[in-house]
Amino acid sequence: MEMTTETRVDIVREFPDTTWADDGPTRSVEAVLEDGLVLSFPQLPFVLSEAERKFLDERWADGRAKNISLRWPGGELRGAAGEAGDLAALKAMVTRYAELSEAFALRLFPHYRGTLRRGNTSFRPAQVAGRETSWRKDDTRLHIDAFPSNPMHGTRLLRVFCNVNPHGQPREWRVGEPFPAHARRYLASITRPLPGSAWLMHAMGITKRRRTEYDHVMLQLHDQAKADLAFQRDAPQARVDFAPGTTWVVYSDQVLHAAMGGQHMLEQTFYLDVEQLQRPETSPLRTLERLLNRPLR
Ligand code: SIN
Ligand code: FE
Repeated sequence: MEMTTETRVDIVREFPDTTWADDGPTRSVEAVLEDGLVLSFPQLPFVLSEAERKFLDERWADGRAKNISLRWPGGELRGAAGEAGDLAALKAMVTRYAELSEAFALRLFPHYRGTLRRGNTSFRPAQVAGRETSWRKDDTRLHIDAFPSNPMHGTRLLRVFCNVNPHGQPREWRVGEPFPAHARRYLASITRPLPGSAWLMHAMGITKRRRTEYDHVMLQLHDQAKADLAFQRDAPQARVDFAPGTTWVVYSDQVLHAAMGGQHMLEQTFYLDVEQLQRPETSPLRTLERLLNRPLR
């Protein structure tokens, strides 16, 4: 068959684990993750109790937020609507996912013990396909994760996803080219931030902290890739279906990804400072600094 691109994207690695706890076989796989691969565990379901299955329904979302989420360290439930008893049970379910995925991440990546920080946990009961959004928020377009209001200063975004769809529907993703190639593709068209703009956005509350040049470049990569329809259509990419019962782990600030379809997923975000990586030179921050030949924070 004729391929539209010369480079094949083959970045998903499968592992046989059937348990989240410490007795599973896979450990010390930091290098695989830091190389920008997707770690997939097709036999690692997050099991819902009989009573919890009713939460697999869009009606629990309050209609304002895209996802239902838990904010740590407090563990407040956001974006959900319902009676107090149901909300407590929903919160307990999402909390269990946070705890299991944290124990799992620390088994897979012992090098991160003591420095990996738990971010929000999200439950996504909405159908991906047909969601109406602006191009910038459209996650069916290939992108690396970067957020306008939340400057990361180089801190890594590690995410543990699990498809909990009860009807056999896969989470359909596309994944793309390696980060260094992606950065080189757009580097020439990335402009410097306007002088004073980082200060102003922080002062006005548009950003939670100052946007460094790293954040500026990452946002431009995110936006330019999403706006570039030829890139979306023709760039090296592969389709990946994550069946229900599959858990997958990825540095979403490094791996080009897009969600094309699916419903009912849990996701746990973790943060890790660049210095705490086993090989900091693989990070987006260090990669961009090498390519631009200057410090970016
Ligand atoms: C994303 O992180 O872009 C979306 C992932 C998903 O909803 O499957
Ligand atoms: Fe994303």
